[in-house]
Amino acid sequence: MSLYPVYKLWNINAVKATGCVITDDAGIDYLDFYGGHAVISIGHSHPEYVQALSNQLQHIGFYSNAIVNPLQEELAEALARISGYPHHRLFLCNSGAEANENALKLASFQTGRARVLAFRRSFHGRTSGTVALTDDPSIRAPFNAGHLIDFIDLDDFDALHAAFGQHDYAAVIIEGIQGVGGIREASVGFMKALRDHCTRHNTFLILDEIQSGYGRTGTFFAHQSAGIKADIITMAKGMGNGFPVGGLLISPDFTPIAGQLGTTFGGNYLACRAALTVIKVMETENLMNNAREVGSYIIEKLQQIPFGISQVRGRGLMIGIETERDLRKGPSLREDLLWKGHIFTGASGPYILRLLPPLCITKEQANKLITFLEQWYTSHR
Ligand SMILES: Cc1ncc(COP(=O)(O)O)c(C=O)c1O
Repeated sequence: MSLYPVYKLWNINAVKATGCVITDDAGIDYLDFYGGHAVISIGHSHPEYVQALSNQLQHIGFYSNAIVNPLQEELAEALARISGYPHHRLFLCNSGAEANENALKLASFQTGRARVLAFRRSFHGRTSGTVALTDDPSIRAPFNAGHLIDFIDLDDFDALHAAFGQHDYAAVIIEGIQGVGGIREASVGFMKALRDHCTRHNTFLILDEIQSGYGRTGTFFAHQSAGIKADIITMAKGMGNGFPVGGLLISPDFTPIAGQLGTTFGGNYLACRAALTVIKVMETENLMNNAREVGSYIIEKLQQIPFGISQVRGRGLMIGIETERDLRKGPSLREDLLWKGHIFTGASGPYILRLLPPLCITKEQANKLITFLEQWYTSHR
């Protein structure tokens, strides 16, 4: 049997990873400035994480949601402490798309409405509902058609006003900072207007913090810098540092109904242990602060590169570098970063390089990337 080839693969066989470094089978060390799509939050193979998961496995790894699981309660308490949403309730699942799908379902159940407002350049996942919400027709099959979704641009106040004038929405869904769409963020004014429209029309505001959340931007959730509250916040990626876990924080305005949501694997002991350890390490190692500090340092240094970069966007360790040259065409910056600089990065479309390193990245490690980029842009003027 062969694999169903839907991924563009780099020919690297990683056999070990520690902190922000991945080592391949030839012994080459790569600096991880991508965190496997923003997943590695506290660093690869963090000793406390390895120990906690190994210990947990020796006790109990899985049983279904048919019995009480005190680790879920413990995780809810830890999230109440760190998230800024002490009164929201926690529902656990396995991935980002599943978190968003559940969020939309809840908003629809509670309002009795089906229509959702979303944003152009968004990415919310690949399940049926989330793919319909994602502004990319190439990943939407005919089977995914039929959802009632309207798309508007970030910061288009007129379109926002017009949309609410025309339709009753169950929910608006927006990323804290658009990730796949190129590290783009709505203004504080727009976020406040969005909150205001949702409140006045009894529409739920869903903040997709799957990529931008869990401390990555220096606050626990990216939208918190706008000073607004969301009705549902969805999380995944950095939550388990590589262990698959997703979740929703759900406002007290929702009435839980037995059987309305459910999952086989969601909230299992290993997932909870992973998520609890991530929070513990984030707190003891002050990683949100590190994300803020090292992120600002990187952004400032990148902005000083005099040629080749048209814009540097983002906050904390969620950074987009808009380059003047197509990243895919030779000499390709992204390939040179990987094969010559031994640095993993991501991309959003042909012109945007995406940096999503583990939150423990150091200034010394950042300097390696910055020096490589300075030299690359200088020699490719
Ligand atoms: C903002 C956002 N939402 C949802 C998802 C989907 O998450 P998952 O791949 O875990 O289903 C992603 C994945 O990239 C994402 O970036």
